[in-house]
Amino acid sequence: AKELPLKGKKVLITAGGTKERIDPVRFITNDSSGKMGYSLAKAARDLGAEVTLVTATNLLPIPFGIEPISVQSSKEMETAVLDKFHNIDMVIMAAAVSDYRPKTQATVKIKKTNEDMNLVLEKTTDILAELGKRKTGQFLIGFAAETHEVERYAMDKLNRKNADMIVANDVSKEYAGFNKDTNEVIIYQVDKEPIQISVRSKDLIAEEILYAAIESMHDEMGTE
Ligand code: PMT
Repeated sequence: AKELPLKGKKVLITAGGTKERIDPVRFITNDSSGKMGYSLAKAARDLGAEVTLVTATNLLPIPFGIEPISVQSSKEMETAVLDKFHNIDMVIMAAAVSDYRPKTQATVKIKKTNEDMNLVLEKTTDILAELGKRKTGQFLIGFAAETHEVERYAMDKLNRKNADMIVANDVSKEYAGFNKDTNEVIIYQVDKEPIQISVRSKDLIAEEILYAAIESMHDEMGTE
C-alpha cells in the first residue's frame, strides 16, 4: 500500500509575489511566479495532506484537490494566513511577500505632472515572524531568497522568525529562484546539519523539503 505520511494533516502554503497597490492601475510586485509554492502544494497533497494554497498569482492553474485562497496584497495574505493558522499543522511560506508597500493608496488614477514624484513606502507585517510568535505546535517553514552570504542570512531568519525550518535558495544562480522551473536549496534547522538539495525540478525540490519536514515532525513528537 502507498504510504501517505501527511494523511490527516492540514498544510497551508503561500505562493507568488504580493501586489502592493499605488493606485487603481499601478502596483509594486516582484518576480515570484508561484511555481515553488504550487509544487509544494501538489507534493503535500500527494503525501496525503489537506492543502490550502494562499496564492498571490492567478497565472498558474489551481492543482486538483487543493483549496485555493486568492489574495493580492501582503495585508490580504496576512489576514488569510492568520485566519487559518490555529487549525493548521504545517505552514510553508514560499510566497515572496513585499517588505514595503505604498503608505497611501490613491483611489483614483494618479495624474502625471512635469515634476518628479516621491513614493513613500511603509513596512509590511512580517507574516512568518508573526506566525513564529503565535505558534502552538504548528511546524513552520520559511524560505530565504538570498544572493550572498546565504547561510548567515538563512540562520538569522530561522532564529529571528522562530521558524522550524528555513529553505534557502541562492536566487543569483541562473537555474534557481524566481520564475525558474528548477531550484537548488539548502535546508536549515535548529540543532541539525544543513541538508543540501542539488539542482532539480521544483516538483522534486518540493518533495525533498516535505520529506525533511516529515522527519523532523516525527522527531519532535517522538514517534516513528
Ligand atoms: O515563485 P517562484 O517563481 O517559483 O520563486 C520561488 C521563490 C524564489 C519566490 C521562493 O523559492 C522563495 O525563496 N520564497 C521566499 C521569497 C522571500 O520573500 O524571501 P525573503 O528572504 O525575503 O523572506 C523570508 C521569509 O519570510 C519567506 O518565507 C517569506 O515568505 C517570509 N516573509 C517575508 C516578508 C514578509 N513581510 N512576510 C513574510 O512572511
